[in-house]
Amino acid sequence: MKQALESIRTEVLEAIAAADSKAALEEIRVQALGKKGSVTTILKQMGKLSPEERPVMGALANEVRAAIEEALGARAEAVAAAELEHKLAAERIDVTLPGKASPIGGLHPLTRVLNELKEIFIGMGFSIVEGPEVEYDWYVFEALNMPPEHPARDTQDTFYITDKILLRTQTSSVQIRTMEKQKPPIYIISPGRVYRSDQVDATHSPLFHQIEGLVVDKGITMADLKGTLQLFVNRLFGQDCVIRFRPHHFPYTEPSAEVDVQCFQCGGKGCRLCKGEGWVEILGCGMVHPKVLSGCNIDPEVYSGFAFGIGLERIVMWRYGIDDMRLLYDNDVRFLSQF
Ligand code: DAH
Repeated sequence: MKQALESIRTEVLEAIAAADSKAALEEIRVQALGKKGSVTTILKQMGKLSPEERPVMGALANEVRAAIEEALGARAEAVAAAELEHKLAAERIDVTLPGKASPIGGLHPLTRVLNELKEIFIGMGFSIVEGPEVEYDWYVFEALNMPPEHPARDTQDTFYITDKILLRTQTSSVQIRTMEKQKPPIYIISPGRVYRSDQVDATHSPLFHQIEGLVVDKGITMADLKGTLQLFVNRLFGQDCVIRFRPHHFPYTEPSAEVDVQCFQCGGKGCRLCKGEGWVEILGCGMVHPKVLSGCNIDPEVYSGFAFGIGLERIVMWRYGIDDMRLLYDNDVRFLSQF
């Protein structure tokens, strides 16, 4: 029996030393120390020994079992470390390799020019406010001195949600919302989307953008309006930019004007861009109508103001030489990546 135990010890320890996985070690453990294992089988035969032999063999058997258990434990640690190392080597990532570059987008030309415009007006002390695109008839028309039968409404046909709620046709609605909330002095611009029933073509879209401006303060005159707009076009188009004020009519300003810029392309001689006129229209403006002021509880005897509305798309098209407005909405990367 002693012989048998010794040879089990030698064999099993050798097998453990050669094992290179957790599974192999477990198999060895079962074969040696399991219920039917070689060491266990020998222990079961202890009963047959003489009382003198029994403690001696018992001690030896325990020694062999302890040696095997210790060897199993040590080898298991070594195997685990080797397995980890192998795994790390296999999954190694070189963090110094250059990454896969994802293409970086840019700002849409409409956003670029709008940002420029905002900068210009912020520089003059204006703040930026926003208004809703789904708006009450009251703010889009009625409070702007356009009662239900006013003919100017026809040219600004839009999508009606109810009789009283519609997609706004002009950012002028924000004038009223601002004056309702805020007492003068008021110096604001309000950019945003507006909607009109228009067929899509190279110069029309049922959705486009405007920037509304409103100033209300004591002692504001037409000279302030002209000075502000002259400074604005100089900042936007350069010092040489020539503008003219052409009398016009808007129900919410009195007097009213449209402002033209001398054609960028031909310098005023007349070309395709300006349709032979030498001038292109850039905005509508005027002195805020006293009825509009008093409708917002601002005393027109104390305060006066001016307002203007600029279309964003045309400016962007001039700025970048874009000849078809649809390009601004197509979201074609070949077009957009040029900016
Ligand atoms: N709302 C006008 C339009 O859509 C533009 C405009 C004209 C705005 C005169 C104004 C203004 O504030 O005073 O054509």
